[in-house]
Amino acid sequence: MKYIAPSILSADFGHLSDDIEMLNRSEAELIHCDVMDGVFVPNLSFGFPVMEAIRPIAKKPLDVHLMITHPEKYVERFCDAGAWSVGFHLEAVDDPLPILDRIKAKGVRTCLTINPDIAPARLVPYLDKVDMVLLMSVFAGFGGQKFIPETLDKVRFIRSEITKRALPTWIEVDGGVNQDNAHLLFEAGADVLVAGSSVFHTPCPEQAIIDLKK
Ligand code: DX5
Ligand code: ZN
Repeated sequence: MKYIAPSILSADFGHLSDDIEMLNRSEAELIHCDVMDGVFVPNLSFGFPVMEAIRPIAKKPLDVHLMITHPEKYVERFCDAGAWSVGFHLEAVDDPLPILDRIKAKGVRTCLTINPDIAPARLVPYLDKVDMVLLMSVFAGFGGQKFIPETLDKVRFIRSEITKRALPTWIEVDGGVNQDNAHLLFEAGADVLVAGSSVFHTPCPEQAIIDLKK
């Protein structure tokens, strides 16, 4: 699968509905929503009010990436705010399983994610318990960072573990994705690529989305 999930962290928040309409017209499959709490990551972004404002406008599923401590306190509210998928960081919790179950109970897809300093092997026990794993290819917290090339081997490793088990689990990659590395990531076995700057900070975001799939 070759899905693109533009991250609205790089959108124009003064004209957010225009950017959502652009994504509706575009070939993007998902809309990636980066939620930051200023504690788990050294940055703040947005939360429920923005999600709720986007929900009636967006025609593409909302892929929510929680970069927060205590995600267990908020997952239901993100489901209720219109998330199609809710992901949180493995390193932010003691036991992800009860949190995953609560997201599933809401009928929402689950995602577990890890920062670049967490061994991908730590995701393996959960591959059959989530709909998607998200490998960060930069340290979570900011858009516009440089892609960490070692991510490619991590994608290959997780892809082989998924294939071994014949699982339907998707692999998403997030951070510094651009036209130079997107095809390499898809070849390595990624299903969904998140892209912020390389979509929104270009003259023609709709074309940039098409180009990321080439
Ligand atoms: C980083 C976020 C990313 C970010 C991607 O913490 O999780 O989703 O918005 O932005 P780019 O594509 O610019 O690296
Ligand atoms: Zn993200």
